[in-house]
Amino acid sequence: MRLDKFLCELNQGTRSEVKELIRRGAVTVNGLPAGDPAVKVNEEADSVCVRGKVLCYRKFYYYMLNKPAGLISAARDRVSATVMELLRPEHRRPDLFPAGRLDWDTEGFLLLTNDGGLAHRLLSPGKHVDKVYRVSMEHELSPGDLRRLEEGVDIGEDRLTLPARVLRQEAKVILLTIHEGKFHQVKRMLEAVDNRVTALKRISFGGLELDAALQPGEYRELTKEEVNRLYGA
Ligand code: URA
Repeated sequence: MRLDKFLCELNQGTRSEVKELIRRGAVTVNGLPAGDPAVKVNEEADSVCVRGKVLCYRKFYYYMLNKPAGLISAARDRVSATVMELLRPEHRRPDLFPAGRLDWDTEGFLLLTNDGGLAHRLLSPGKHVDKVYRVSMEHELSPGDLRRLEEGVDIGEDRLTLPARVLRQEAKVILLTIHEGKFHQVKRMLEAVDNRVTALKRISFGGLELDAALQPGEYRELTKEEVNRLYGA
């Protein structure tokens, strides 16, 4: 990879800013000042320093965000505020995106990453990755409603929803585990049993629980072990 691209990828500045850094002699490759922004570096093997500080190359980034209500799950939007605006400047990268979508008014676990391969594995319809939602609703579910949600309901698609797991938490609050990710799926499932979602929060995704220490709007990096678990989901 070209040195200037490498420096941009590691958030050292824009293309013109990193070129200026190189021109001023602030960048070394394997201990020698680099004069040419186009010089090729091996991101795994070469040691690149900016003002004496070694840069560690990473290809992929993974953040667990506790999405607050009021933001849309998109990498960018011309009108509305997106979840990407919650990232601190040092974590912003043009290739990061939310892996999947939560509605504007839904809270909870949203994965932000630039790993398209993992996102594809987690989101492709055939994979049936577990998603657990805490669902507050208008009316208490009857035992029959509960059974129908578990067995599959008609939400206007070609087929009934796949079997789900329902755990009653309070009179009007359940934990619902689903294995699909259809548009507005949980809201439509509750409508199918003549009910209405009043609050929705995703508390687990791909076998990872939302970190209880994260307040709405906060995020943290996933550990290596957590990334591996998502790969195994
Ligand atoms: N199901 C919904 O209805 N909304 C979400 O945001 C996620 C799942």
